[in-house]
Amino acid sequence: MTGPILTVEDLRVRYGRVEAVRGVSFDAAAGELVTLVGANGAGKSSIINAVSGLVRPRGGRILFEGRDITRTPAHRLVRSGLVQVPEGRQILATLTVEENLRLGAPRRAGIGEVYGRFPVLAERRRSPAGTLSGGEQQMLAIGRALVARPRLILLDEPSMGLAPRIVDEVFGVIGEIRSSGTTVVLVEQNARRALRAADHGYILASGEIVHSGPAAELLGDDRVVQAYLGVET
Ligand SMILES: Nc1ncnc2c1ncn2[C@@H]1O[C@H](COP(=O)(O)OP(=O)(O)OP(=O)(O)O)[C@@H](O)[C@H]1O
Ligand SMILES: [Mg+2]
Repeated sequence: MTGPILTVEDLRVRYGRVEAVRGVSFDAAAGELVTLVGANGAGKSSIINAVSGLVRPRGGRILFEGRDITRTPAHRLVRSGLVQVPEGRQILATLTVEENLRLGAPRRAGIGEVYGRFPVLAERRRSPAGTLSGGEQQMLAIGRALVARPRLILLDEPSMGLAPRIVDEVFGVIGEIRSSGTTVVLVEQNARRALRAADHGYILASGEIVHSGPAAELLGDDRVVQAYLGVET
């Protein structure tokens, strides 16, 4: 296939009077890791939810592998290879690890592969998911998306609330997913970290893209660093 795997054109999302996304355009080439970064309320989740069919856009167009998916519901997108790992993980605490993974793919296609990638999930397969640590729960949320063997995975703030060492692990996994050929769209408040992992970046403020470019260029741009990345910690 030529052209981007994902194209978002002039996307608009409203909740009543709140204009959460105000004409956002971006794309992702196949095999790329693209990140959208921005502060609380910038519109990151609204964009990712619109792309994955969970929120109906007020305007604009979304193309996946060249097909218009602007109004395609989420469950059909999962079957066609586009999955989201939602903000806050949203695993089902009382179900076992394996039951959570089965929710990702009724035919259980990729569960063995997920256990190969995350040995800790294999060890804990019969434990209630609620007994996993925060980092393990994030791995489970990512694993549940991978059992559908997606070609495009959208991650909404996977590092949120995790200790620095676990954040490293999560970013390691994201890098591996990308290396295996899956296109990744990563949404993060942890802008510096996300840009370091990404090929291309888009900086979002109040529902609009205010800077974009190769991630390395954004990290080297003083205006971007001062306004959006803050001091290094
Ligand atoms: N269901 C909703 N109803 C009304 N307003 C909403 C709803 N969801 C989001 N908003 C508003 O839309 C704007 C964008 O929210 P969104 O969740 O997309 O931001 P975000 O960048 O993901 O923020 P965060 O980093 O806190 O997750 C915010 O002003 C938010 O209050
Ligand atoms: Mg959000």
